[in-house]
Parts: sequence; C-alpha cells; structure tokens
Amino acid sequence: MSIELPIAQEPDVRIIDGWTLHEFAEATSTSSLAANLPPWTAVRADVQTAGRGRTGRFWVSDENGLWLSAVLPTPGAPACWSLLPLAAGWAVLGVIRGLGLPQARLRWPNDILVGRQKLAGILVDRFSADTAVVGIGLNVSNRPDLVDPALRGETACLADLLPEAPPFTSLLVRVLAALTREHQRLESGDARGLCRDLNHAWLHRQVHVTLAGGLGAINGQLEGIDPAGALLLRDAAGDRRTFPAHRVDMLREIFPA
Ligand code: BTN
Repeated sequence: MSIELPIAQEPDVRIIDGWTLHEFAEATSTSSLAANLPPWTAVRADVQTAGRGRTGRFWVSDENGLWLSAVLPTPGAPACWSLLPLAAGWAVLGVIRGLGLPQARLRWPNDILVGRQKLAGILVDRFSADTAVVGIGLNVSNRPDLVDPALRGETACLADLLPEAPPFTSLLVRVLAALTREHQRLESGDARGLCRDLNHAWLHRQVHVTLAGGLGAINGQLEGIDPAGALLLRDAAGDRRTFPAHRVDMLREIFPA
C-alpha cells in the first residue's frame, strides 16, 4: 500500500484507539492521500492546498482547522452503507455538542452549523468498493473568511464559540471514536436507529432543493430521511416527495424575511 506524496515529506505516524494516523504539515487533500490506504487509517494535514468540498467545490483549509480523512471498511452490499455520509455527520455533531455546543445542528445531508454559519463539512468518497473515505473539515481557530472574503459571515469556528479551542489531539480522539461507533451501528444493521436519531434532530424547516442533472428545483418542508437515506419533503401541495441523495445537488434553507 503506498501513499501519494504531493510534497517531499514523510508523515508523522501515531496510533489512536485502533486508528493509524498519518499527519502532514501540508497536503493537497487529505482525502486524496487516503484514497489507497487501508481501513482504520486516517490522514490529517495542518493545511490543504486543494481541499475538496461536496459538489466539486473548493474547501478552504487554512492553518488551525481540523482537516482529517478517515478510511472505513464497507464490506458487503453498497446499499448497506448508503447512510454512511449521514452517520458521519451525526458522529461529528455528537462530538461538537459534547464540547459544550448543544446548539450545533445538522443541515442535510451532513453540514454542521451554529445558527446559519457553517462549522464543519463532510465529504465521503468511495474510491473503492471495500472502503469509504470520510473527509471532515472542522473550523477550529482558523479564519477561512480571511482566505476567501466571500465566506465572511458564512462560517463559524470553535474558538469563537467556546471559552478556548479544544486541543487537536482531544478532537482527533473524539472524532475517530465517534466514527468508529457510528460505523459499528451501521455494520450491525441498525440503520433504523440512526434514521430515528437523525429525524429527531433535523429542524423541519422550509428548504429549497436543487435537483441534480439540471432537473429543476423544488421548495418544501424538510421531513427527514427514509431508511435508505433519501430526502423526504412535503411540497406546497401537501404531497410527500422522496428524493434519493444522488438526485439532490444542493439544499438551501429558507429563512423568513
Ligand atoms: C463540504 O463541502 O461541506 C465538505 C467539506 C469536506 C472538507 C474535508 S477537509 C478534509 C477532507 N479533505 C478534503 O479535501 N475534503 C475533506
């Protein structure tokens, strides 16, 4: 198994609760580096020069943020793992709430917000059938808005929300343990338990959903997800509509004027 090294550097390697963690000063994208690594390996970098967000967006990854990619095994039928992106969001939300931010919330599918500002984002890549790479970007005491002024007012960071930013090692330990737990839950076949937790946690607000493939957009009330992870909306006519995750390009929350 080889690691793609974009820059002449060797990672620091340490073991955390069954995970082998590779740490770099700089990476293109930790998820790209993790693509060929075995399960229970994670990659962290101080900065990413080509951080990737969902739907092909660039992810600003400046110093003092947590940029982490964790490789999880996904044995058996791919359908068993369709909820993994949601499970990862639930795992990270639990960590953030546990730090003393009970007001942190999820926006479908797995963004973590405080109020209207984004604190963390998650991108799940399937580079192979046997593994998934869960890429987590968490703003700790970095300032993405100084890198990209378009993000002004759009992002939150832990250091502004807590008396002090938690140490990186403690964050890593908590995040990796939470991922392990949620992975075990899905592996044991308890997708319904996850669904129940998530449907309890969503704020049932008005949303604007842009469909993939240029198939238009729809406004509706978010009702949660079904056991396959599809998005459930109540449309303006009062009908319930179901959208598999791959059919949704973007979901935007609608706030009253
Ligand atoms: C999103 O668009 O909300 C998902 C952002 C995911 C960013 C993380 S940072 C660590 C990992 N490496 C990447 O290139 N992306 C993910």
